[in-house]
Amino acid sequence: MRLNVNGKDHELDVEPEMPLLWVLRDELDITGPKYGCGIAVCGACTVHIDGVPVRACSLPVGQVQGTVTTIEGLGAPGALHVVQRAWIEHQVAQCGYCQSGQIMTAAALLAANPSPSDADIDSAMSANLCRCGTYPRIREAVKAASRLLSGAAT
Ligand code: FES
Ligand code: FES
Repeated sequence: MRLNVNGKDHELDVEPEMPLLWVLRDELDITGPKYGCGIAVCGACTVHIDGVPVRACSLPVGQVQGTVTTIEGLGAPGALHVVQRAWIEHQVAQCGYCQSGQIMTAAALLAANPSPSDADIDSAMSANLCRCGTYPRIREAVKAASRLLSGAAT
């Protein structure tokens, strides 16, 4: 089967039941998406398909319809995405394990809603688990990214 990931087409010889996360990590060596729970609960494996966040651990690759984007392809070539810049500015990560999923979820939130309220942010981001409890910094970073998107001063 064919799969487009981060703008590049791949020919794959895998079973269609293989979860997308396995294809990304084990077949394509794209390791930004992480394995956490494996049952679509934690969000560590979040990637985008045509801009929509999905949990790659629980999506059979044969059901993928659209272009896959992982954190490696989130920004423009050679540049960080605005959410990644805000994450660095606010030093969000602690252990870091959940963070690629957090960033992918935040990027999808801002694409759909460039000026989210605190409630919008909490609603979207609380579905991604962070055992280190970085949620206050996640919220501040999402707001900073929103300001960057609107062209306001950081
Ligand atoms: S590893 Fe996919 S949601 Fe937890
Ligand atoms: S930063 Fe450690 S689990 Fe989120």
